Amino acid sequence: MTVDRARNSRFQPQTGIFADTERCVRLSICEQVDVAMARKAVRQLAPQGGLSDRATHALTTAVSEIAQNILTHARAGELIVRVIDEPGRRGLIVIGRDAGPGIGDADRAMQDGYSTGEGLGLGLPSARRLVDDFELVSDSGCGTTVTLKKWAS
Ligand SMILES: Nc1ncnc2c1ncn2[C@@H]1O[C@H](COP(=O)(O)OP(=O)(O)O)[C@@H](O)[C@H]1O
Ligand SMILES: [Mg+2]
Repeated sequence: MTVDRARNSRFQPQTGIFADTERCVRLSICEQVDVAMARKAVRQLAPQGGLSDRATHALTTAVSEIAQNILTHARAGELIVRVIDEPGRRGLIVIGRDAGPGIGDADRAMQDGYSTGEGLGLGLPSARRLVDDFELVSDSGCGTTVTLKKWAS
């Protein structure tokens, strides 16, 4: 897979965690250890989002899939985890984005068992089932952005 480094570089101001406040963690996803860092970021912020252990585990699993997809299918990108604390609702929002090849047929990519690689093709559909709100924005050549939200119950 070819990667347009110039385009992708705007998602990598530096490697590792490059912003970390009490309410928001922003990290680059460019090597395997970053998937573990993404999981850690969700666990770190989950209490402020009011998430139960069960909800935290579900979101962590979904985020792993999105981060792994960035590595596998786009090679690099970034992930933002942020607390949502509004009157009447709390939770976490996670945005994963990359400037990789994008997904030509998003409906197909959301089907169980569909993979263009050697994976099981369960990452995206599983992630959708594990969160409360799921949005995939992607097109061939335009990169991919996945937004996940998990609300406190
Ligand atoms: N960030 C991404 N960039 C480009 N293509 C992606 C990305 N994420 C997912 N895809 C596409 O969607 C398909 C389905 O993803 P997924 O359900 O996670 O399955 P798998 O990763 O096992 O192939 C992938 O095979 C790939 O074609
Ligand atoms: Mg996958």
